[in-house]
Amino acid sequence: MKVTVVGAGAVGASCAEYIAMKNFASEVVLVDIKEGFAEGKAMDLMQTASLNGFDTKITGTTGDYSKTAGSDVAVITSGIPRKPGMTREELIGINAGIVKEVTENLVKHSPNVIIIVVSNPMDTMAYLVHKTSGLPKERIIGMGGALDSARFKYRLAEALEAPISDVDGMVIAAHSDTGMLPLLSKATRNGVPVTAFLSEEKQNYVIEETKVGGATLTKLLGTSAWYAPGAAVSTIVHAIACDQKKMIPCSLMLNGEYGQSDICLGVPAIIGRNGVEKIVEVELTDAEKAKFEEAAKAVREVNGDLKF
Ligand code: NAI
Repeated sequence: MKVTVVGAGAVGASCAEYIAMKNFASEVVLVDIKEGFAEGKAMDLMQTASLNGFDTKITGTTGDYSKTAGSDVAVITSGIPRKPGMTREELIGINAGIVKEVTENLVKHSPNVIIIVVSNPMDTMAYLVHKTSGLPKERIIGMGGALDSARFKYRLAEALEAPISDVDGMVIAAHSDTGMLPLLSKATRNGVPVTAFLSEEKQNYVIEETKVGGATLTKLLGTSAWYAPGAAVSTIVHAIACDQKKMIPCSLMLNGEYGQSDICLGVPAIIGRNGVEKIVEVELTDAEKAKFEEAAKAVREVNGDLKF
C-alpha cells in the first residue's frame, strides 16, 4: 500500500505519523510546496522508526509528483488552516485553487488512486475533487465526520463521566460549526441510549461543544488542530488498506441518499479496499431531517462560489 500525503504541515505530518505507527503501509510520500519541508518532515519521522518500531518507508518531495506515481491512496491536506475567529468557509478563495491543482497532479500519476480530502471548507473541496478529477465517486472521500464523531464521543464521555470506550456516537451532515449534526438520538453507552443518562442541559452542552470543537481548539492553539485530524485520516486509510469494511461517517457525493443529490455531505459509509463500498441510510428524526436539509442548503451556497 503506497500512500501520498500532500501538505506536510500540521495535519499532513500527524497523519503520516499515525499511518506509519500503525505499520500497515509499505510507503508514505509527503509532498509540500515549501522547499525542503516535506523532505525534512519525512527524515524526522523516519528517525522515529527504530524507536517506534515501524517499517513504513517515509520520503518527502518538494512538488515532484512523479515520486507519488502508483499511489493507492492520496490525502490532500494542502492549503491554509483557519485562524481564531475564522470560519472554515472563509478559506475557499485560497484553498480551492490549491486543491484543484493538487488533484490534477495526483490523478496524472496515479489514475486509480483513492483521494481523501481534508483541506477546508472540506465538503466543498470534496465536491471540487469530484468535479475536476474524473475519478469514480467511490474513490473520493471527504474527512470530517470521523473527526467530529471522535470529538462527540469525547464530549459524551465527559458529560457521562464515563470512559470513552463506553460510548458510541456519530456526527453527520456538514463539516462546519453550524452544519454539523451530532446524532444524539443514536448515541449509546454500552448499548443504552445516552439520553437515559443525560439531563436536557447536558445533552445541549454535548451537542454545542461538539459543533464548536474545532473552533475551541483554534482559539486555544492559534491555528487548527492536528492530532485528532491526523488520527481520523489514518483510520480511513487503515480501513482501505486492510479492507476493513469499517463504517465511518465521511463526506460523500450523494445521489438521492438522504434526499440529496449533487452535493458532498457527511453520511455513514462502509469503507474498504475499493473506497466507499456502501452508503448507509439511517433513520433520522424529523428534527434531524430538517437540520440535515439546512446543512445541505448552506453547503450548496458555498459550492456556488466554486469556479471549475
Ligand atoms: P498547515 O499550514 O500546517 O499545512 C498546510 C501545508 O500545505 C503547508 O505546509 C503548505 O506549505 C502546504 N501547501 C500549500 N500549498 C500547497 C501546494 N500547492 N502543494 C503542496 N503543499 C502545499 O495547515 P494544517 O493545519 O495542516 O491544515 C491543512 C488543511 O486542513 C487546512 O485547510 C485546514 O483547515 C484543514 N483541516 C481540516 C480538517 C478536517 O476535519 N477536514 C481538520 C483540520 C484541518
